[in-house]
Amino acid sequence: MRPIIPDYLAEALGDVEPDASGEPAAYIPELAAADPERLAAAFATVDGRVYGAGDVDVPFTIQSISKPFVYALALADRGFDPVLARVGVEPSGEAFNEISLESGSGRPLNPMINAGAITVHSLVGPERCAPADRVERVIRGLSAFAGRQLTVDRQVYASEMATAHRNLAIAHMLRSHDMLTEDARTVVEGYTEQCSVLVTTRDLALMAATLANRGVNPLSGETVVSETVVRQVLSVMFSCGMYDAAGDWATQVGIPAKSGVAGGLIGTLPGRIGIATFSPRLDRHGNSVRGVSLFERFSSDMGLHVMDVPSAGQAVVRSNHVLGSGTDALRVLELQGGIDFAGAERVVRAALETAPPEARVAVDLTRVHAIDDVARRMVLEVARRLTLDGQEVYLVDPETMLPDPDPGEGGRVTVVRTVEEAAPTPS
Ligand code: DON
Repeated sequence: MRPIIPDYLAEALGDVEPDASGEPAAYIPELAAADPERLAAAFATVDGRVYGAGDVDVPFTIQSISKPFVYALALADRGFDPVLARVGVEPSGEAFNEISLESGSGRPLNPMINAGAITVHSLVGPERCAPADRVERVIRGLSAFAGRQLTVDRQVYASEMATAHRNLAIAHMLRSHDMLTEDARTVVEGYTEQCSVLVTTRDLALMAATLANRGVNPLSGETVVSETVVRQVLSVMFSCGMYDAAGDWATQVGIPAKSGVAGGLIGTLPGRIGIATFSPRLDRHGNSVRGVSLFERFSSDMGLHVMDVPSAGQAVVRSNHVLGSGTDALRVLELQGGIDFAGAERVVRAALETAPPEARVAVDLTRVHAIDDVARRMVLEVARRLTLDGQEVYLVDPETMLPDPDPGEGGRVTVVRTVEEAAPTPS
């Protein structure tokens, strides 16, 4: 059978290919010389399947796409407070290389603009980490996100350092405000090595999928950073990842994303997929022209906008019925799907507000495939309150969705594998 998703990706690439607007980054001579016709797109699922079309295995430098991942490493290495004390989380609405710091404190506005990213680079690894060790930690960390060993393109590094006047100016300003506590040039050198790490579109899709998969690389299974770190990183990508185009992007595409001046672009759909595209011509914001078009198309074709309203929690209570009659009658609340707060609220309503008159109640989790922490606690609280009201509660849980269920003081549940085990025997 013809592969559906690669065919779709190839068709999308074909549609954007004629657009030759924009220019490759000119301020880094090595990037200006890149082949502007390169074009690729890849999707990586949270269980590690990668679909691609076009030049998915052609290497290019990661550039600013390194910023969210290195921010994740700094948060993991130093903790939130020390990092937030040096770098804010407010969108700047300015270009990526604007020489701007928060007035008074001198703190960069966010980790996606260069001022923030240079500071973040200096916060990776333990305090007083030697610069070379820090770069090693950065490359090791980026490699863990990609699931393979990455290397630095020395030519691009040398080319960018030769013209890094603006980043050096930013770093000196940061140093003057004590946001950097080390030699400004050494930090810019480390940051530029970070930007010069070579990746392919396939790597980037897997890196984005690692964020989508709560920080666990879908191929290696390695936990690269914690879920809390991932949430922070994705939030900042959503509000600041596309610089002064962030608002347009958030409304039109609605996918947490990050671009790089070599032409890469990534997007992460939490819990779903990582997306990456590659095309070197950039718009005036420094974002890939054809990459932006591809993301617009992916978002609308596949309903990927994170603000699209999910299906209602109502569907969580699949059925609410009674088996048997008289004193033996069993009220069955059959649940289904993934249950979060909104879904659990429906269970609370079905079980408590309409107060089933039967003396025995079964909460059937047979068709539930996921239940988050708050929903787990709410379902157990439902069980506790039913017990306190004198009802006998059964949890039908063949897949152990609620291991060791403890409904708390005064509550009691009997776990069974099938509704039949709790159902009254027909007389
Ligand atoms: O700091 C710089 O100028 C580059 N090495 C990275 C900039 C970048 O990729 C901006 N993103 N679109």
